[in-house]
Amino acid sequence: MTERWHKSDLSEAHPAEPYEALAQIYDQVMDHVDYRHWAHYILKLALLHGKEPELILDVSCGTGSLDRALSMHNLKVLACDASLAMIRRARQREQQKAQQVLYWCCDMRRLSLRIQADVILSLYDSMNYLLEADDWIRTFMEVHRRLNPSGLFIFDISTLHNSLETFADYLHEERTSGGYYRRTCYFDAAASIQYNYFTIYLHNTAEMAYSEVHRQRIRSLEQVDQLISQTPFKRVGTYSDFSLKPGSEKADRVHYVLQKRDD
Ligand SMILES: C[S@@+](CC[C@H](N)C(=O)[O-])C[C@H]1O[C@@H](n2cnc3c(N)ncnc32)[C@H](O)[C@@H]1O
Repeated sequence: MTERWHKSDLSEAHPAEPYEALAQIYDQVMDHVDYRHWAHYILKLALLHGKEPELILDVSCGTGSLDRALSMHNLKVLACDASLAMIRRARQREQQKAQQVLYWCCDMRRLSLRIQADVILSLYDSMNYLLEADDWIRTFMEVHRRLNPSGLFIFDISTLHNSLETFADYLHEERTSGGYYRRTCYFDAAASIQYNYFTIYLHNTAEMAYSEVHRQRIRSLEQVDQLISQTPFKRVGTYSDFSLKPGSEKADRVHYVLQKRDD
């Protein structure tokens, strides 16, 4: 490891958009996540609410790990994400696989593909990236338009408990085969914003360091319910972490299942 790995001055780093540089090493950063288990869990929630989906759309797919796991279940998966860097990475990985997931770059607040899905997903804190109430409502309405009758929108949120207990003051550094990253986290409780700062050194960009600031709005379950109540969706379930227990403020993550009403 050379000296440059130990540089810690953020001012030397090139500011990048969220995931612009992180995309290169995202899969290594996330290698503790069991996406196959997550895919099973999502299909279990869907079944619990009466859906055996033939077509799933993931509107914040990242590098597509969950989508590849879902595609093993003999169903069609389409996936988009607002970050072009993440989509490029997802496409590169897709080429190594037999199952075909179609990826494209798109903001979930303005979905561009004219398809109707049985289940739409937005997972792993992606909804926390929507900072304003308006962003949530626009996303709900877009998703609603793209769902078949009685279709499900399944999303998760990272909770206040998770920010206070783990990410209020957090530092993690790691070397991966693609580079090195340092993540420092800070929770602004007054504004309910979780800040995640990444400093990233990539092997393929030699001396260049990148800094990314990720901002997530942390909402209470009550606030999320209040937003859902402004949409045509019916909330049919909330679940703590990866269990079938009701969603709770004591969980780190809560999964929501919303249903398009038949009318
Ligand atoms: C923590 S990553 C999760 C990615 C993926 N779901 C996973 O499980 O690995 C959050 C993702 O949300 C995406 N995202 C944030 N805001 C978005 C938006 N408005 N529209 C679509 N994707 C968005 C980011 O680009 C990023 O890929």
